[in-house]
Amino acid sequence: MQQLWRALSFFRADWPRVLAGLALLALTTLAGLLKPWPMALIVDSVLGHQPLPGPVAQRIGDLPGPTQLAVLVGAMLVLHFGSALLGAAQNAVVIVTGLRGLARVRRAVFDWLLRLSLRRLQGSQAGDLIYRATWDTYAFQTLFTQGVFTFLGALASVLAMTVVMWRLNGLLTLVALATVPVLLLVMQAFGGRMGRRAGEAQSADAGIATTVQQLVTNLQLIQSFTREPKEAEHFERQAQTSFTARWGQHRAEVLYLTTVSAVFALGTAAILWVGARQVLAGTLSVGELLVFLAYLTQLYEPLNQLSHVGSTVTNARAGTHRVLELLGENAAVKGGQRTVVRGADNGLEFDRVGFAYTPERPVLHEVSFRVGPGEAVALIGPSGAGKTTLLQFIPRFLDPDSGTVRLGGADLRDFSVHSLRENVALVLQEPLLLPASIAENIGYGKPDATRAQIEAAARSANAHIYIEKLPQGYDTIVGDGAARLSVGEKQRLNLARAFLKDAPILLLDEPTSALDAESEALVLTSLRELMRGRTTVMVAHRLGTLRTVNRIIALHDGRVAESGTAEELLASGGYYAKVSGRH
Ligand SMILES: Nc1ncnc2c1ncn2[C@@H]1O[C@H](COP(=O)(O)OP(=O)(O)OP(=O)(O)O)[C@@H](O)[C@H]1O
Ligand SMILES: [Mg+2]
Repeated sequence: MQQLWRALSFFRADWPRVLAGLALLALTTLAGLLKPWPMALIVDSVLGHQPLPGPVAQRIGDLPGPTQLAVLVGAMLVLHFGSALLGAAQNAVVIVTGLRGLARVRRAVFDWLLRLSLRRLQGSQAGDLIYRATWDTYAFQTLFTQGVFTFLGALASVLAMTVVMWRLNGLLTLVALATVPVLLLVMQAFGGRMGRRAGEAQSADAGIATTVQQLVTNLQLIQSFTREPKEAEHFERQAQTSFTARWGQHRAEVLYLTTVSAVFALGTAAILWVGARQVLAGTLSVGELLVFLAYLTQLYEPLNQLSHVGSTVTNARAGTHRVLELLGENAAVKGGQRTVVRGADNGLEFDRVGFAYTPERPVLHEVSFRVGPGEAVALIGPSGAGKTTLLQFIPRFLDPDSGTVRLGGADLRDFSVHSLRENVALVLQEPLLLPASIAENIGYGKPDATRAQIEAAARSANAHIYIEKLPQGYDTIVGDGAARLSVGEKQRLNLARAFLKDAPILLLDEPTSALDAESEALVLTSLRELMRGRTTVMVAHRLGTLRTVNRIIALHDGRVAESGTAEELLASGGYYAKVSGRH
């Protein structure tokens, strides 16, 4: 119930529309209530010999029979058309409001995804997130249009008709209402099972989405190791799981609806039996029986809808649950108020930093070192030592488990995440590109950059040379996953992006590892220029690159093993001396 309110809170902003929908619903119900009466009056008073009831008699009592008939038939038409029009208007309002709510939910999920911490992202399946953001969000619309409006409409009709029927004939009304508790029992009995099955089915479908997404991403790997049959087998298993769950769900649904139909049939039979006997006994007029029968068909429709609502709502609840589960989880990185000031002391300090991705395997142990403001420090160390991990702390893609990272003496967590990231240029080990033009890719961190600035950045990164040779130059679209550029070319685009960002803190993760010696030398000249006056941490191994920094820190097994200038480390004969000897 609480979850239902949370799901419906997405429609609160549209309350005028909701009210309009409710008003139209009330009018539709009223029209439905009046609909059978002209027919009853025709049968009882125009064809039969009963006097017209007071208010009607006042208006048309003195008219000749055929005119009365014409007026009553006209009234019937007006009531039927009016009720259809009102119903259509109500549907339109409810559908639009439902769609607006759906858009709002999707926006909320998208915002949640935008703020998602790297840690949380790594702990989830992309396909599952995509499924929740696109398919599961439909459940909110369903819940609103069918869960709420169909339910309220049905409830209003049932209540209003019950009142009118009660005034006509108490016994018959009781017989009709006897089906309601039976129906509720049936809903109760099947609801839980259908909900569980629907949840299972949705999880299974999200699993399929994940598998397809992984196939698309790793197709080359799969094909190069000819693993297609294994993948097909894996997919088949998932498809089977989905099949079983969906089949279970629909079986429960079919069984449920059959039971409901049986209950209705029994109810109708009972009413016909009792009603017809009353007409025979003369305690009920034929017109009234007609009204009664018309109400019955009209009553069974909303009741039937009510019974569908049960399965629709349980179905939709599985979806809203999966979305609310996401939104309820605070997966964003929390920051403080402090902002990074250019030109201030932007030195970095790692103070006994400890970190583990998984508790059983710590990656960093009490790592302490400083990078003075404007100083450039290189991190070296064997693969898996934790170099990339260390860099991720500075823009707060990760937070240390113990110890503190400080910027200008203040804890990084006191800074606004936005300000921090705005002032950090990060070049990752694996170049990241968007499916957009080269110019847009370089200018990504600075949307107002001019073409001249973009070109200057590309020149500094030694990327201009190859970009110029591309058929569309800077307007070349880098394919999805940047398939059309070589690793070195991509790396230079990423560097150009960092050049253009012009941030006071520079983080570079092996920025030149995929470049040939000549390109590297050119890029290093520009890098040296860029690094001037900026606090720089650079993961690097090549000697040429290491010559551009002031100090070198060697990590080993997640600890600082050596630290000092190149000469000092060479003299001490440690890891650096060993590696540089090979060059
Ligand atoms: N997202 C992750 N989840 C779990 N473990 C991780 C994750 N990322 C890295 N690790 C582990 O943490 C350790 C340090 O990884 P890191 O990427 O920091 O190494 P590195 O020093 O940058 O290595 P390389 O020189 O190969 O880039 C490795 O043992 C790695 O397996
Ligand atoms: Mg690394």
